[in-house]
Amino acid sequence: MTSAPPTLLTDRFGRTVNYVRISITDRCDFRCQYCMAEDMTFLPRAQILSLEEVQEVARAFTELGVGKIRITGGEPLVRRGALGLIEAIGRLPGLRELVLTTNGSQLAQNAAGLKAAGVRRINVSLDSLRPERFRAITRVGDLTQVLRGIEVAVATGFARIKLNAVIMKHRNDDEVVELVRFARDSGTDISFIEEMPLGFVDGRDRSEDFCSSEEIKTALDRDFTLLPSPETTGGPSRYFRLAGSDTRVGFISPHSHNFCGSCNRVRVTAEGRLLLCLGNEHSVDLKRVIRSHPGDTERLRQAIVAAMDLKPERHHFDLTAQPVIIRHMNATGG
Ligand code: GTP
Ligand code: 5AD
Ligand code: SF4
Repeated sequence: MTSAPPTLLTDRFGRTVNYVRISITDRCDFRCQYCMAEDMTFLPRAQILSLEEVQEVARAFTELGVGKIRITGGEPLVRRGALGLIEAIGRLPGLRELVLTTNGSQLAQNAAGLKAAGVRRINVSLDSLRPERFRAITRVGDLTQVLRGIEVAVATGFARIKLNAVIMKHRNDDEVVELVRFARDSGTDISFIEEMPLGFVDGRDRSEDFCSSEEIKTALDRDFTLLPSPETTGGPSRYFRLAGSDTRVGFISPHSHNFCGSCNRVRVTAEGRLLLCLGNEHSVDLKRVIRSHPGDTERLRQAIVAAMDLKPERHHFDLTAQPVIIRHMNATGG
């Protein structure tokens, strides 16, 4: 990894895109209630980008000045060859920061390899510390395995580990204090996330479960001193520092605190669709560009540059309506 080249990607609203989130699979070994329906059909292999194609896309972005890549899924570590791909991406000239979002289920056995591949920070989803509840929210997940993954990752010495907790009323909103204690005691950061209406989920009404960042903050203020912090990862989290510790507590509040004005990212789905905004469908089919003109890297870069004009100003999430965005989060990587 070397110092940053000049950024070449800018949208119609003057925002600079210097961060791409690449989903390397839509598959996952969990079925989180807020992310998926219980019964999911995943994409056939031929429809998703090959490992080489993902690498080609990543290279094109770095050549266009994008310095930060986050690998997402589904669960990225369930893709065969994920580690080799991540290693190859980590070697791209121009890349300044390689990061990963995972559900933690296979982190224990992969942490050392990820560190060696150049991954700097890891975000791990953790919505509950109670095994039964964890199982209910993820439908199949084993909490012990994830906690072990977090423990190993911390011991491996990444720059930071961040926990992500999607908070839902009547499901896990009574656990926010415990979660912050866990973050403090394990030397990690934590972000609390307001649920977003992406894809249909069965068996629940998202608007009934909505828990605002403000409510969470109020609950935390009773037990902790949270000091406002100007720190940013370039992501949507607003951070506070937990007094007397290294832990940062973040709030990702797409509903109550819109952050679109400073959006610096785009996404590539496992299918190779360049998605300009999480909350809109504007996209460009990079897989088609790659497969119809193999090896034409200039054409790929041009397609990415031209796509910037499609980036919408903001999302219009509405939890009370049927989801406007039909794709599930696992197709997008969050
Ligand atoms: P860093 O800031 O690099 O640590 O990452 P992050 O917190 O942005 O990434 P992570 O993959 O951990 O995502 C946490 C949550 O933020 C997920 O629910 C994402 O869907 C959400 N998120 C990330 N980027 C955006 C965005 O551009 N818009 C919206 N609405 N949500 C986002
Ligand atoms: N709303 C908000 N966050 C979500 N995630 C998955 N689905 C949703 C949703 N509908 C979170 C996961 C993971 C991150 C990438 O996105 O918890 O931590
Ligand atoms: Fe950017 Fe879209 Fe996310 Fe808003 S919802 S922050 S415009 S990607």
